[in-house]
Amino acid sequence: MNTRLALGAALALAALASVSAADTPTVSAAFVDPDSPGHAEIRDVGERAINRLGVTLVNEVTVAVAKSGAAKAVDVCHLRALPLTGEIIAGMPRITAVKRTSQKLRNPANAPDEAEKLALAQVEKELAAGRLPKVLVQRIDLPGGKPEWRVYRPVGIAPQCVTCHGPRESLDAGLVARLAEKYPDDQATGYAAGQWRGLIRVTVGDAPPPAAVPAKSAPPSKAVRKS
Ligand code: HEC
Repeated sequence: MNTRLALGAALALAALASVSAADTPTVSAAFVDPDSPGHAEIRDVGERAINRLGVTLVNEVTVAVAKSGAAKAVDVCHLRALPLTGEIIAGMPRITAVKRTSQKLRNPANAPDEAEKLALAQVEKELAAGRLPKVLVQRIDLPGGKPEWRVYRPVGIAPQCVTCHGPRESLDAGLVARLAEKYPDDQATGYAAGQWRGLIRVTVGDAPPPAAVPAKSAPPSKAVRKS
């Protein structure tokens, strides 16, 4: 458990080098207009990755529950979920980090980092105003001048998610026992279909330089630092 927490924290910090100290959140981040042409490319790459992750998530849990029941499916979700806390998606080299997070966590390793907390708060704010954002694009300013770009998609509770995230008293007894064993601090129950569950987030790295075009001269000053 401690290892898990430490791993989660390490991943969060690795993804966000600008957080200086645990209790002084100093992340400098902004949400940009996902519809502006300047951000279309990042958004597009991010959304394609999220679509794939989303479909995989829904299919995997649906198939696992149908095949072996909810309690056993917890192990499937658990194993499958691990790559979702920091590894890269096969075949999508621009995606340098992937995560699922929520305000109500089942696995503490999925806890939001500072920038993700801003994204959760942003979705909450928009929902309160009666809007459900389809996608968020976030620029995180890192020391050194090169930002990190993140794309977030809110995920909702579909009917098949209620099997494991619905009201506690409605859950299968075997499942409740399994959850208690693996996730003693589980907060991710009590949901109804249609409710907002959390976020899928990807980090989108730089586009590979076009092969035929000679590299543009580096932006002035930033890259050149002599000491
Ligand atoms: C078979 C049970 C099961 C079903 C069905 C299920 N989940 Fe989960 N869910 C889990 C488990 C177990 C975890 C913890 C995974 C881990 O250890 O990272 C989890 C974690 C999550 C997380 C990550 C945040 C957290 O709380 O740790 C999100 C987001 C999530 N589920 C959304 C969904 C959605 C959306 C659906 C429906 C498409 C769904 N789940 C269906 C069992 C389930």
